Amino acid sequence: MDKIVIAGGLPLQGEVLVSGAKNSALPILASTILGGGECVISNVPRVVDVVTMGKLLDILGADVQHEGNRAVIKADVIRSTQAPYDLVKTMRASVLVLGPLLARWGEAVVSLPGGCAIGSRPVNLHLAGLAKLGAEVSIEHGYIRAKAKRLRGAPIYCDVPTVTGTENLMMAASLAQGTTVIENAAKEPEIVDLADFLNKRGARIAGAGTDVVTIEGVRELRGGDHEVIPDRIEAGTYVVAAAITKGAVSVARCRPEHLEPLLNKLREAGVAISVEKERIHVDATAPARLKGVDVRTLPFPGFPTDMQAQMVALLSVVEGTSIITETVFESRFMHVEELRRMGADIRVEGNRVVVTGRERLAGAPVMASDLRASAGLILAGLAAEGTTEVLRVYHLDRGYERIEEKLRGLGAVIERRKG
Ligand code: UD1
Repeated sequence: MDKIVIAGGLPLQGEVLVSGAKNSALPILASTILGGGECVISNVPRVVDVVTMGKLLDILGADVQHEGNRAVIKADVIRSTQAPYDLVKTMRASVLVLGPLLARWGEAVVSLPGGCAIGSRPVNLHLAGLAKLGAEVSIEHGYIRAKAKRLRGAPIYCDVPTVTGTENLMMAASLAQGTTVIENAAKEPEIVDLADFLNKRGARIAGAGTDVVTIEGVRELRGGDHEVIPDRIEAGTYVVAAAITKGAVSVARCRPEHLEPLLNKLREAGVAISVEKERIHVDATAPARLKGVDVRTLPFPGFPTDMQAQMVALLSVVEGTSIITETVFESRFMHVEELRRMGADIRVEGNRVVVTGRERLAGAPVMASDLRASAGLILAGLAAEGTTEVLRVYHLDRGYERIEEKLRGLGAVIERRKG
């Protein structure tokens, strides 16, 4: 297994370009099977999750071609309506083919995603929503089975806003007969991106990005072209990398308006941040030490849970005490024990952590447990004195495109060692 080795302690300087959003590319790729014709998707990040989605579409019978950051997909026919356990277990977002398969081909058999390192992650709201649209849904031998001749539009209320749930239901409802109204929908920018792509192909979706999404079903969708939005979590990770190393970095090709909650917290901590249309300038060179801030993760437009681990890493080297409360997932603090191995002073109390900032962290071998935890450990390593080895980096490869190369471009001493 590969590991990443970092010689920490250098302030990052320069410019970094943000890749396309993994969490937008995945539903957009899954949605290509909702219609025939050619779909050309650009700004697709070359990360392992995207490759996995490509494999899944290929198994289903779509013609998938990756050319650099472009994916060209044709799904005029489908060979199979089954998403096998082998793939779903490596990527929960495989469940995104459930809605499209059911809506266009009348049936879907998708392995039930299992548990994961950030706690139990049910898909009950995806299933309840599809049942509202008239599907017969059951769980048999570890697989979700859904069937419907043609889905019928219906009102759907989500108990909690779910990102992939809203996406699945929006895709399914696009081909239903009649109108669907999803209430308490998730409002993440990736949902807006998916709706934009579907609308280009003939869908009729209004309200994406608000908590009420209305979908008037249409008979069919055609092909279409689309450019995936920039990855706000990747952008946020580089912003925090600049802050934690007391560097000065320009994060380019991003959408600052998607990062407001993070940028505001960092300003509160003492980081100088200015934004342009597609660029964020971060300057943490001036204050001797940043200050602690309290953070509460929330669905968009709140502070993203996908930035929590990186923020905990940063707060472990600022002045004072910070409380970080995780409200989206139940146990997402696997990085804490690893950060402690680097000398961080962090206490877990239920769904929150209390971090007392230390002057410095000390490099150490640490183990990544999930995608964003890995990013948090890399950031801690960049700031720490001495050498940090981050093991199990395959988690990182699921969602960050060329991260070592991008960090090296900012002056970091970081390399991958093949295991
Ligand atoms: C997506 C993102 C993930 C991010 C998360 C929250 C993708 C591919 N992944 O995951 O990176 O961390 O949003 O921003 O876009 N829930 C239910 N029942 C359901 C579905 C969800 O109770 O049927 C709960 C979950 O347990 C969780 C909360 O709803 O507590 C939000 O989860 P959800 O928005 O669904 O996360 P994902 O879509 O899986």
